[in-house]
Amino acid sequence: MSDARQSAWKAIGLHQDPTLAELFAADPDRLAAFSGRLELDEIGILFDWSKTHLTQDILTDFETLAEAADFEDMRRKLFAGEVVNPTEGRAAEHAALRGVGKESSVEESGALLARMRLLVEAIHEGALGEIKHLIHIGIGGSALGPALAVDALSRDLSLVDVHVVSNIDGCALEQAFAACDPATTLIAVASKTFTTIETMTNAESALKWLGDNGVDDPSGRVIALTASPEKAVEWGVDETRILPFAESVGGRYSLWSSIGFPVALGVGWEDFAAMLAGAAMMDEHFRDTPLNENWPFRAACSDLYYSRIRGAQTRAVFAYDERLSLLPDYLQQLEMESNGKSVTAQGQPVDGATAPITWGGVGTDAQHAVFQLLHQGTRLVPVDFIASIAPGDELDPAHHRILLMNCFAQGAALMAGKQSDDPARSYSGNRPSATILVDDLDAMTLGALIAFHEHRTFANAVLMGINPFDQFGVELGKEIARKIEQGGERFDASTEALLKASGLGG
Ligand code: F6P
Repeated sequence: MSDARQSAWKAIGLHQDPTLAELFAADPDRLAAFSGRLELDEIGILFDWSKTHLTQDILTDFETLAEAADFEDMRRKLFAGEVVNPTEGRAAEHAALRGVGKESSVEESGALLARMRLLVEAIHEGALGEIKHLIHIGIGGSALGPALAVDALSRDLSLVDVHVVSNIDGCALEQAFAACDPATTLIAVASKTFTTIETMTNAESALKWLGDNGVDDPSGRVIALTASPEKAVEWGVDETRILPFAESVGGRYSLWSSIGFPVALGVGWEDFAAMLAGAAMMDEHFRDTPLNENWPFRAACSDLYYSRIRGAQTRAVFAYDERLSLLPDYLQQLEMESNGKSVTAQGQPVDGATAPITWGGVGTDAQHAVFQLLHQGTRLVPVDFIASIAPGDELDPAHHRILLMNCFAQGAALMAGKQSDDPARSYSGNRPSATILVDDLDAMTLGALIAFHEHRTFANAVLMGINPFDQFGVELGKEIARKIEQGGERFDASTEALLKASGLGG
């Protein structure tokens, strides 16, 4: 690590530790300084980081760190389509799909998405016969984004009923079969590499299910979503039904590419396009806004302050919105697969903790299950609350009122705490939380919200000096599974015993 980085981290670690209450008492402008409403065209999002321990001095030190980490140049490279993933020699061009990036990549992305739109609209118009259901088969980044977006946006209307199946456990696919009529079901096989064993095995079984249930040409019902179109052809998908995307789009950043096909088919092209437009607005905010007013950057400073300086091992996200119940799962992959690393982008050991464990759930359910630990446990857990001012439901407004009141009450309680003569009834308080309050959780806002987290993850990585775009840590387990399948190799005594007990090995 360079001397400049080292001394910036040292400076960040030297700040005194006033409590949140003291910070508010000392600065009447604290709320204005650490919260702000971002108006992005039709989107309104309030970011409130005032209930964290960030101070102006801490932010200034993070800006010094950003300078030492060449933050602005890394951000420029990201949007210029230059290599930001050095271990794989790749750019990371998910923003180009949203129209923000290198001109040629934006053009290519636009052409690929136009092709996808034609296919989606043709299917809606009956080109493949009557289609009522889509079984979308993919895993990791090829499933989590589509599952989140379809769930969030199709609550009141869905053009096609979408089932996302990821797990190799056949129970998952059987559940989808049970909900679909084979005569009107389309299968999307979503895999960047088109080699992932779970996805390819599920895809084979889905084809068999169609064939066994009277569909004459099962492979005519398959749409391939992939960055390896030649593999999809080999597997037997007709080129007219292959929707490719660029190799420079990472798996966990691929919702915006043809991997988003189920969103476009399920809720309509208009919503899919609105999601891209909302994400583009966040791209522009992140790309063009000075660091001291840049929300993904500020959020990253807070993340790193807690994980690196205060030793927080986890960070929790609670969506007070049922439509975002899959957001914690999505963020787990985005943050943990991107930033769960032990070496820098140059291959040196990292100089501090990297990504904390991301976890969470939905409010108010989580209040009655895990919030005890947040309020009185011994661990520091920075919390994000996410809510929408406009309700997603049409029931008695009491539902939404109670939901929001609870959300805000939790943040207030974590900060204020409460003293009691009875230690069991005391709350220490001074526990940090941030709140993201959107005007309305429409498609555009969802796009902006996801892009905010992508850029926050990138900002975290750059400040830590790591490469967020590779994921070699997932390979070893896959390799051993392959060896088990091939047979002939001996493993440790425990693994051998498990193989024997389950009938998988001798
Ligand atoms: O094993 C991890 C991973 O490579 C993820 O990064 C990716 O999103 C997922 O597997 C699925 O990969 P693919 O889209 O190539 O099937």
